[in-house]
Amino acid sequence: SHRMSFTIAIDGPAASGKGTISRAVARHFGFEHLDTGLLYRAVGQRMLEGMDPVEAAQALRAEDLDPETLRTAEAAQAASKVAAIPDVRAALLDFQRAFARRAGGAVLDGRDIGTVICPEAEAKLFVTASAEVRADRRWRELVAAGFDTRFDDVLADVHERDRRDMGRSDAPLREAEDSTRIDTSRLTVDEAIAAAIAAVNLARAQI
Ligand code: DC
Repeated sequence: SHRMSFTIAIDGPAASGKGTISRAVARHFGFEHLDTGLLYRAVGQRMLEGMDPVEAAQALRAEDLDPETLRTAEAAQAASKVAAIPDVRAALLDFQRAFARRAGGAVLDGRDIGTVICPEAEAKLFVTASAEVRADRRWRELVAAGFDTRFDDVLADVHERDRRDMGRSDAPLREAEDSTRIDTSRLTVDEAIAAAIAAVNLARAQI
């Protein structure tokens, strides 16, 4: 476009590897990165603290998006719940669209970036993996971080979030028709990143 922006939309279910891929893609192209899950996690956290989720979404500022405090399983489940409220999603729309159109290029990762937030994104990826693989990755991360967690609980958590994120009526998680699918179930991290960069380069060559 005339503003020299290039938007890369990366969507996918929980623990698919889209966070890791998004950070690596942003670094590779020198683009800014927004993990949109943090917006919903911050609102979910406020709801757990007793605040009205719509008011929390309307009052949210970029400084509130601290990844460290928002990466808990409780914040994730609360995020998935507030994400089903249309007025919460509406309140977070402008911030995401403005971020996407910043000069120089942007990577946004989430659930509805390619379908709702940036349907005109120059490159769209859908990063996925089987529920078992995603739960296994998340479980290993938790164990490595010192948490005493059962695999079955993590798997149940993944299934519950999938169901809620795909089943809601407003902006459900689904693959955009014009996105490139990357199934990371049998890929190493490096292979998944290489596949994502190759897909973005292909999209860049087609502009
Ligand atoms: O990507 P994540 O696990 O941090 O996201 C947490 C929750 O937020 C997810 O279960 C659904 C919601 N979410 C959403 O509805 N839309 C987005 N663009 C990003 C996240």
